[in-house]
Amino acid sequence: MDHFRNPRNVGEIPDADGVGTVGNPVCGDLMAMYIKVKDNRIIDIKFKTFGCGAAIATSSMTTELAKGKTLEEASKITRADVAESLDGLPTQKMHCSNLAADALKAAINDYLEKKKVKK
Ligand code: FES
Repeated sequence: MDHFRNPRNVGEIPDADGVGTVGNPVCGDLMAMYIKVKDNRIIDIKFKTFGCGAAIATSSMTTELAKGKTLEEASKITRADVAESLDGLPTQKMHCSNLAADALKAAINDYLEKKKVKK
């Protein structure tokens, strides 16, 4: 509830190195995740979520878990990790945590693709 009422890292990074946008096919909710990367590490991360309370709380927790991690470590964050860090989610809300983990992975992939194109 704290991460829903006081979500961390809300917003956009205008000059983000990677952006991931995903929709939840179960409910139609949307999320965008922005990352700044330095020396293979996520140094800043923000999100915008148009979704339910669980989606907001899981997004907030995902950004907290990912900040400061290497890209490899961050890409291993699972929905179970996110739910566990929030002290659990109701079963019917587990699908909401997919959104945050998927948006983070999409942002990392976007960064890696852009880097490949630059090279
Ligand atoms: Fe849509 Fe939770 S109901 S993400």
